[in-house]
Amino acid sequence: MTAVTVVTDLDLPEIDYNQPGFGPETYHEQLAKAREHGWLAHSPLAFVVLDQESGDFFLRARQTAFPGRQIAELFGITQGPLYEHIDANILNLTGDKHRRLRSLVGHAFTPRAADRWRPVMRDFLAQLWAGLGGATRTEFVAAIAQPYPSRTIAAVLGAPIDDAPRLYYWSNMVQRQFDIQALSTQIPDIERAALEAREYVTQLLERRKTTPGADLISTLLQAEEQGDKLSRDECVDLVLNVLAGGVDTTQSQLAQALRLFAAHPDQWRLLASQPEQYAKPAVTEVLRTEPIAPFTARIVLEDIDHRGVRFPAGTIVAVCAERANREIDGDAFDIIAARDGKLFTFGAGPHFCLGANLARAELEEALAFLSSRMPDLALDGEPVLGGVEGIYNVESLPISWTPTSRT
Ligand code: HEM
Repeated sequence: MTAVTVVTDLDLPEIDYNQPGFGPETYHEQLAKAREHGWLAHSPLAFVVLDQESGDFFLRARQTAFPGRQIAELFGITQGPLYEHIDANILNLTGDKHRRLRSLVGHAFTPRAADRWRPVMRDFLAQLWAGLGGATRTEFVAAIAQPYPSRTIAAVLGAPIDDAPRLYYWSNMVQRQFDIQALSTQIPDIERAALEAREYVTQLLERRKTTPGADLISTLLQAEEQGDKLSRDECVDLVLNVLAGGVDTTQSQLAQALRLFAAHPDQWRLLASQPEQYAKPAVTEVLRTEPIAPFTARIVLEDIDHRGVRFPAGTIVAVCAERANREIDGDAFDIIAARDGKLFTFGAGPHFCLGANLARAELEEALAFLSSRMPDLALDGEPVLGGVEGIYNVESLPISWTPTSRT
């Protein structure tokens, strides 16, 4: 029999995001250093797996689940509307219940379903660009990265576009259920936002029932009407999850993309030379190099032995997409390199991001649109970066460019 060592008995490198030296400027380097020691590291709340194979294993293991309820309970959220919202979140569902929901809604999130929204995305980009009024410098996050995904989600849901700022606010607040800093101080605000968003989505569903359209809610309602299928509550919860998951993620990924390209002007010019050809590989390279969810987590439900290490029930494991993505192709940022690796940016296994195709379409449209209008994009000040523990956001990104014939 092979000997098994309990994970707590191992001497592991420490990844401590509370240390002053740990942050967006240093984290790639620190993770690379930890990886030199092996596939496993320790952090304040979790054991971190740093390679593809283990990441894939823990994301797919039947004996693991997303630890959303456990995190909530740590912060005293054990009942009430916020707990109910967290309890029903698709990310926290497991087994047959989760499988059934995914199979019912999968067809609404295919690449082809996402492609239908591309003309709308292009319209929003053109409106936001026109809103710059011919300027040749702007703070990119406020001007484009932030409003673009909430307008897109409004269109996808069939909500009035004027409601996009409200959707942005709710999405941003409700997502904080995953943010341990916010859970320490903002529970009443998060709960209020979850309640308001639920009320809004319920009314939207009622309206769509009487006036169906080509939007996601109308598609989901058809599944609701087919007998045993999607219940009203499931429909509301799912729309809430799409709203919460589909705004600050794409916003952050788009802002990270522009930051990366400002640092790699040759790559940006290449993209600008043939945006139709290069937008897709450019997005894949951005997703690979700077994943905005560098870590996701699982809780072990029953003891797991993996590579001679025992992970007892109750252990939290963080899966590091950032290291897993760089395992095959390294650190270089190159949009036309022939990459042949699996990406972990959208997770893996049963909870693989439901909105991945929509997010890719949004990012491709944005990069194609912007590169052809500002091929000499440059930084116009230091970017302000968010923390890497949750969604790795860009708070502010001053950029400048010179006008082209398309401006
Ligand atoms: C670049 C943008 C995005 C990134 C990087 C991203 C990342 C992720 C990741 C890593 C997961 C899996 C988490 C886990 O297994 O622990 C996930 C799940 C999910 N994402 Fe995304 N996401 C993005 C955009 C979107 C969009 C646009 C939507 C909605 C339209 C969306 C909706 C969801 C939903 C509903 C889940 C839960 C799926 C399930 O539990 O079965 N995401 N996302």
